[in-house]
Amino acid sequence: MRKIFVLFILLGCGGGGGGGGPEAPPPPVPVDPPIVVPPDLETSYEEFTLLFEKYCIKCHASDPFIESEELMRASDAKVLISTKAMPLDPEDLGIDDRIKMLAFF
Ligand code: HEC
Repeated sequence: MRKIFVLFILLGCGGGGGGGGPEAPPPPVPVDPPIVVPPDLETSYEEFTLLFEKYCIKCHASDPFIESEELMRASDAKVLISTKAMPLDPEDLGIDDRIKMLAFF
């Protein structure tokens, strides 16, 4: 799965233009320095949901992926948060809460 993500990112960078449609999120771009989640940090789905309500729900209130933990895990949320593609304005989510959200995955 991780390999597939990496491949996706590489392809996303090389592609340039076309595809995606008007509603597609900005292509994930690797951030520098990369966001490191401490291995002993774990965020429960409940805690993640609180953060999601704070930073994400205003745009995603009716998206299917918010309906269960499984759907959230299966979504692109991890890669989008870790590449700062989400939230749309990266300034809206500070590094501490960003790390907390990533510790859910
Ligand atoms: C200002 C509005 C806005 C905010 C805030 C926002 N998003 Fe998004 N997000 C979008 C838009 C627009 C898209 C692309 C259209 C779509 O798929 O809903 C998107 C797409 C996504 C997708 C892919 C959708 C799918 O169906 O697979 C995920 C996952 C996601 N966002 C997660 C998040 C998370 C997690 C946060 C909070 C950290 C967040 N978003 C905050 C606007 C927003």
